[in-house]
Amino acid sequence: MKPNPIYAICSLNDIPNRQAIGFNLMVAEDGGKQRPWSVVVVPWGKRVLGYINKCPHNGVQLDWEQNQFFDPYGIRLMCGKHGSTFELSTGRCVEGPCQGRALTPIALAALDGDICVVGVHLVEDDAPAID
Ligand code: FES
Repeated sequence: MKPNPIYAICSLNDIPNRQAIGFNLMVAEDGGKQRPWSVVVVPWGKRVLGYINKCPHNGVQLDWEQNQFFDPYGIRLMCGKHGSTFELSTGRCVEGPCQGRALTPIALAALDGDICVVGVHLVEDDAPAID
């Protein structure tokens, strides 16, 4: 495996600014095991933010309706199950039953017009690696 893998998961143009899209990917672990890896990606101005799509309250995916990640104001991520809201820039839960806990951030990079995940080994069926 590559020591510091980078995988393009979509084009920057695929996600409008201030919109969130979920990706259900597969991670290849050392030893060959594979496990699902669901993330949410949000281009926000010049930044691209991303978190594991897993609520720290009950461990469910945030978007109970596919790709519905935002609160009604469009400024915080929100869990569809019990309504916890999360500060977009930090992932910290600011309201709801998991207040004080936080989403797990993922490492992302914008390279050559693509949004890339960094530092995890993805199973490469539809996520080509960048050399
Ligand atoms: S499962 Fe997300 S707030 Fe309860």
